[in-house]
Amino acid sequence: MKIAICPGSFDPITVGHLDIINRASALFDKVIVLVVINVDKKCAFTPEERAEMIAKVTADIPNVEVDIYGGLLIDYFKEHNASVIVKGLRAMTDFEYEFQMALINRQLYDKADTLFLTTSVENMYLSSSAVKQIARFNGDISHFVPDVLLDTIIDRLHKKETEEVL
Ligand code: PNS
Repeated sequence: MKIAICPGSFDPITVGHLDIINRASALFDKVIVLVVINVDKKCAFTPEERAEMIAKVTADIPNVEVDIYGGLLIDYFKEHNASVIVKGLRAMTDFEYEFQMALINRQLYDKADTLFLTTSVENMYLSSSAVKQIARFNGDISHFVPDVLLDTIIDRLHKKETEEVL
């Protein structure tokens, strides 16, 4: 069985992430969307909340699973006997960081290849950070996140902004 891992922060998942997950699910027997806990990164949603949001929007894709991990990606890769790491590439700005990560992971374990799927053109500019920033200032994020998550995301980010101001 060919298992692909789609790792990321997913804080929160965007339609760009979902597009990559969907396309990966057509290429592999199983796709594990992995919420990676990064203690150095301040996130708006807990890992459990992020995983729950991903599970909700991928519920209709039978070969997609969601998991949370707090260690090295490569250790998870080995533990789950995965075949490949799948990442989305937006612009050249992503390339240097992603290239470095792919090389490091392969250095750590030579069977760990990273497959880059180019983003769909309409998601070229999209990022979770942009979504959070727009939502905090009451901007329209409806084109950027899956419909079913819209209220949850707006509710959290507006509340957070209010709490920070108070
Ligand atoms: O969505 P992001 O924040 O760009 O995802 C980055 C992520 C989580 C895929 C990356 O930071 C990662 O793989 N973290 C796990 C720690 C690790 O294995 N690092 C590689 C050696 S530096």
